[in-house]
Amino acid sequence: MAVGTVLVTGGTGYIGSFTTLALLENGYDVVIVDNLYNSSKVAVDRIELISGKRPAFHEADITDEAALDAVFAAHPEIDSVIHFAALKAVGESGEIPLEYYRVNVGGSITLLRCMAKHNVTNIVFSSSATVYGDATRVPGMIPIPERCPIGPTNTYGRTKVMIENVITDQVEAQRNNSKNAGKPSDEWNGALLRYFNPCGAHPSGIMGEDPQGIPFNLLPLLGKVATGERDKLLVFGDDYASKDGTAIRDYIHVLDLASGHLAALNYLREHKPGVKAWNLGSGRGSTVFEMIKAFSKVVGRDLPYQVVERRQGDVLDLTADPTLANKELGWKTKLTLEDACDDLWRWVENNPKGYRQDPPASFIEA
Ligand code: NAD
Ligand code: WQD
Repeated sequence: MAVGTVLVTGGTGYIGSFTTLALLENGYDVVIVDNLYNSSKVAVDRIELISGKRPAFHEADITDEAALDAVFAAHPEIDSVIHFAALKAVGESGEIPLEYYRVNVGGSITLLRCMAKHNVTNIVFSSSATVYGDATRVPGMIPIPERCPIGPTNTYGRTKVMIENVITDQVEAQRNNSKNAGKPSDEWNGALLRYFNPCGAHPSGIMGEDPQGIPFNLLPLLGKVATGERDKLLVFGDDYASKDGTAIRDYIHVLDLASGHLAALNYLREHKPGVKAWNLGSGRGSTVFEMIKAFSKVVGRDLPYQVVERRQGDVLDLTADPTLANKELGWKTKLTLEDACDDLWRWVENNPKGYRQDPPASFIEA
């Protein structure tokens, strides 16, 4: 008998697929909803190859209320939702803002409406460290605690802040309603998980990040330099106030991030805290040059780079203070930057075409 059944929106995507794996490995059943806009259904096969369990999969759009409604109706056992589905390209969000608000904010409202209709009351939401914007504008906020004032610097970040507010209002309204009606068992709960910089892949080398378009994040780009698909990495600025002049980020292994979702879900189910935000990060900041060095070491040669102008909207330092999640969720990162680089390289080297190629025969035979 399963511990519970979780609807995972965006479950074939990068973080969603790893979280689905962690849920299955910890006794949950999973129902995925994804429109495959930025992912491949092959992720479902890889999850099954690793865990021996196959999540249910529905190709559907979270903005399509009838389709989402049908998924909830087909799976009355769903008791919680982990909500990943979103558009996430920061640059693009400034070019087509209405699409970002429609999918991210509109899709989240549709999801919450369906949850209410089907009496599903726990939601774990993929927020982002980007909600803090430039935390150095407020003294004493690096590493960044959850009480750091919100101040996103781009449209994508503003969609995340809006969704946090929508979830907060819905959870609080439903808790008030159920209290007033004398039905505390109907209490809603929400976890707003603000992730820092996810990276890495599965140590087996058969699951990793495989976006449909061109990647824009540092580590996937470094992977492309290592395979020769790109001739060099462009380093966006070396005139920041850091030890080597390049910007600082808190890189977190995707396996640790997945276990953070499991910890948050378990916490909601056990403690019924209402709505709360938690940072998911390691608490350790690394510069771009440190990342190039770490990945070069794993690859076994110096990866070429060229310093160019700062990228618009980038900030000096996004390092998490993860103390709250450490204490309340009993969760902390276990894997190192070296693990992330190692696993990423195994994935990239073995799967230059991502999920568009078969896994090694040893996996199929096993
Ligand atoms: P991803 O693009 O790999 O996964 C998102 C998934 O959602 C994809 O599989 C995509 O096909 C699906 N999707 C998009 N629009 C949809 C729609 N309308 N209906 C149904 N499915 C839809 O991205 P990811 O890196 O795994 O990110 C997952 C979540 O985490 C997102 O909400 C993202 O904003 C958030 N996040 C990501 C990062 C990061 O750096 N990767 C950092 C912080 C927060
Ligand atoms: C990391 C560092 C760049 C590429 C973004 C989103 C954030 C979150 C995570 C979703 C920065 C530098 C990068 C390159 C470089 N996503 N860099 N050359 O910008 O910290 O965060 O992804 O929520 O919201 O903004 O991640 O991987 O793009 O950059 O020098 O070609 O690497 O300047 O310092 P970022 P990133």
